[in-house]
Amino acid sequence: MIIVMTGATSGIGAEALKHFVELPDTKVYAGVRGSGRIVPEGTAILPLDLSSLKSVSSFADNIKQRLGNTKIDILVLNAGIQATDNKQRSEEGFELTFATNHLAHYLLARLLLPNLAKGGKIVITTSDSHDPEIIFFGPKTLDLEELAYPDENSPKGMRFYATTKLCNLLTARSLSAISLKDDSGISVIAYNPGLTGDTSLMGKQSAFIKILLPVFIRPLFYVVSMFKPAFFMGTAKRSGEALAELALGKVTLPTDKIYASLVRGKLTFPNPSQLAQDNNTRDLLWKESAKMAGLPE
Ligand SMILES: NC(=O)c1ccc[n+]([C@@H]2O[C@H](COP(=O)([O-])OP(=O)(O)OC[C@H]3O[C@@H](n4cnc5c(N)ncnc54)[C@H](OP(=O)(O)O)[C@@H]3O)[C@@H](O)[C@H]2O)c1
Repeated sequence: MIIVMTGATSGIGAEALKHFVELPDTKVYAGVRGSGRIVPEGTAILPLDLSSLKSVSSFADNIKQRLGNTKIDILVLNAGIQATDNKQRSEEGFELTFATNHLAHYLLARLLLPNLAKGGKIVITTSDSHDPEIIFFGPKTLDLEELAYPDENSPKGMRFYATTKLCNLLTARSLSAISLKDDSGISVIAYNPGLTGDTSLMGKQSAFIKILLPVFIRPLFYVVSMFKPAFFMGTAKRSGEALAELALGKVTLPTDKIYASLVRGKLTFPNPSQLAQDNNTRDLLWKESAKMAGLPE
């Protein structure tokens, strides 16, 4: 089995990777930035910096060259960041969180789609923060111009991040619609790991936070989660395991569902937000992202 993934070096993805490499006859190709990264045996590291569309294209070429006629069984698009401000820009000048979380993965999915096996699978890691009914700051509208080129009045931090996660969900829906039309049998899953405390999403954790996490932060969120289940703080181990379960088909989604949400450690299959279900918004994102990524519609 061939698995290609992003975000395999830390947090949820690193935990999922442990499950992938345990499988017999499986080769994992991980797109990784920087050098000197340690990954489990059975993983091939290829350079990929998601903050550069040029790097995404080179990574896709690299994968295609290595695989030749061999097809990809599972494509896991898991990497993500949450910048505190929206002033940083990608190599091509787009806002960094938007470029990394959405645009790079959109381009990668489109470039590798022809190389996916019939009946293959794409898993995109999204977040329940895309849904204003679950998390109050979730997006109620999608303004692509503002996402790509925010100014000082635009949303920042978690609010901005949540909109990029809406983009992940909408992209998953577009890819699923294409697969149905092409009869390629490719299934697409948008996966919400839920609030996961022990990852580096908001930067490397200080020793102080690491001490506070089990004795104060996690118990506090546990109490809140009794009233608001989305506030349950899971572990990277369980969030990564659930990602692997979905990718490997150990857990299957009900017919016509594409959204899997980990709530209090259990996989559930709710509908995504109303905006995520809107086909006009989905198609607009697809079309505008193509322009930004330099692809035909
Ligand atoms: N943690 C949560 O509470 C939570 C909740 C909902 C959804 N999620 C989603 O879960 C996914 C995984 O996040 P995590 O919490 O496990 O965070 P994490 O520990 O920070 O892992 C993020 C991964 O993305 C990679 N990455 C970031 N920027 C990259 C770039 N420019 N090029 C290549 N790789 C890059 C990181 O690589 P490096 O090792 O090089 O940094 C790392 O492997 C993300 O999509 C996130 O949005 C997380």
